[in-house]
Amino acid sequence: MTNPKTFALKGSICFSADPGHLVSEENAYVICENGKCAGVYRELPERFRGIPCTDAGNSLIIPGLTDLHLHAPQYSFRGTHMDLELLDWLDTVTFPEEARYADLEYAGKAYRIFADDLKKSFTTRACIFGTLHVEATELLMDLTEETGIKAYIGKVNMDRNGPEDLQEESAESSAKATVRWLEDAQVKYRNVRPILTPRFIPSCTDELMTKLSAIQQNYRLPVQSHLSENPGEADWVKDLCPDSEFYGAAYDRFGLFGGEGCPTIMAHCVHSSEEEIALMKQRGVYVAHCPQSNTNLSSGIAPVRRFMEKGLNMGLGTDIAGGHSLSMLRTAADAVQVSKLRWRLADDSQKALSFAEAFYLASAGGGSFFGSTGAFLEGYDFDALILDDSFWAYPGTLTAGERLERLAYIGDERCIAGKYVCGEKLF
Ligand code: GUN
Ligand code: FE
Repeated sequence: MTNPKTFALKGSICFSADPGHLVSEENAYVICENGKCAGVYRELPERFRGIPCTDAGNSLIIPGLTDLHLHAPQYSFRGTHMDLELLDWLDTVTFPEEARYADLEYAGKAYRIFADDLKKSFTTRACIFGTLHVEATELLMDLTEETGIKAYIGKVNMDRNGPEDLQEESAESSAKATVRWLEDAQVKYRNVRPILTPRFIPSCTDELMTKLSAIQQNYRLPVQSHLSENPGEADWVKDLCPDSEFYGAAYDRFGLFGGEGCPTIMAHCVHSSEEEIALMKQRGVYVAHCPQSNTNLSSGIAPVRRFMEKGLNMGLGTDIAGGHSLSMLRTAADAVQVSKLRWRLADDSQKALSFAEAFYLASAGGGSFFGSTGAFLEGYDFDALILDDSFWAYPGTLTAGERLERLAYIGDERCIAGKYVCGEKLF
């Protein structure tokens, strides 16, 4: 019997195995063997003759993209209230909306819309914040599980500086709710996994961080949070943590900043000091660079070239609803654009990103948080997108790389004609 997860896709294949360049092969085959990529070929190798082959014609075939940072409950209000900076935006818009997820009926409606759109998006892997509510977060996990996308999803922890209706009563009750959630969430799913999610330092007391550290070790959980995003936030952390030399140290003193057995994603890192960057490198912390959010919330422009020079782990995030678009292809274009402004306005010794570099971050860069994903290399999970760009007519011929770059700037989800995760066809 043939394995349904062994097949070939034929088309214009484009991917990035290292930040320097895009690999493209026109009229070529990419093989999925039992859910794993078995390479890209101009001719179908002998041993694969006879496997099912989908001919995508002139369409592009690219690896699935990874969104390293987004907030599912904020999807509802994306693209509104974009005239505020981070802390005011949290207090006046974000926290009141997240408080609504205590109501499971509302949560169900909102998360259904989110999950449907995520399924149709360029994203095949995602690291997602829920809210502090256990039931609503499980509902989000149920709905994300059904999409077939692979995701880490976190119940948020926050026991200080929130409004009355979006704050856990104590460190104790926050930790207890987390354990209750984990006992269920750890065993229930095939596609989604729990991730420990202290919102950010201003939202978590030392007592809570101590308890979360014990939970992290006990359950061997990955961690996601926010770091050095916005000047107002960074000043606040300095006041809250006078003993920490820099923001990242305030996580590190609780063992929640990467290192052995604690894979960690920190979103933003716009205002990271050299010491903070050095510690991220040492601990293998992933940077989730979120260019659209950093623009919308006037946070600044992250020193992405510096992170690349230092060899940090890094991917891209939409940071919905700091960012307004769920498109990871758009996010790659945004990363290029803001890097040009940084080069021009802030530091002309730091070259802007090329599209190939930004695409690498959106695919293999962020994908590596999930293991071997995000490139058409042998043994990698077979996550793939078929992109039909014929809607965006062109009078001549373009290379596959040019077509992909063009889609990042002028295209949208309407171009996605097929989507696969680990060899499973989602549509
Ligand atoms: N810092 C703490 N919470 C948030 C959030 O919801 N969004 C962003 N962008 N930054 C945060
Ligand atoms: Fe965020």
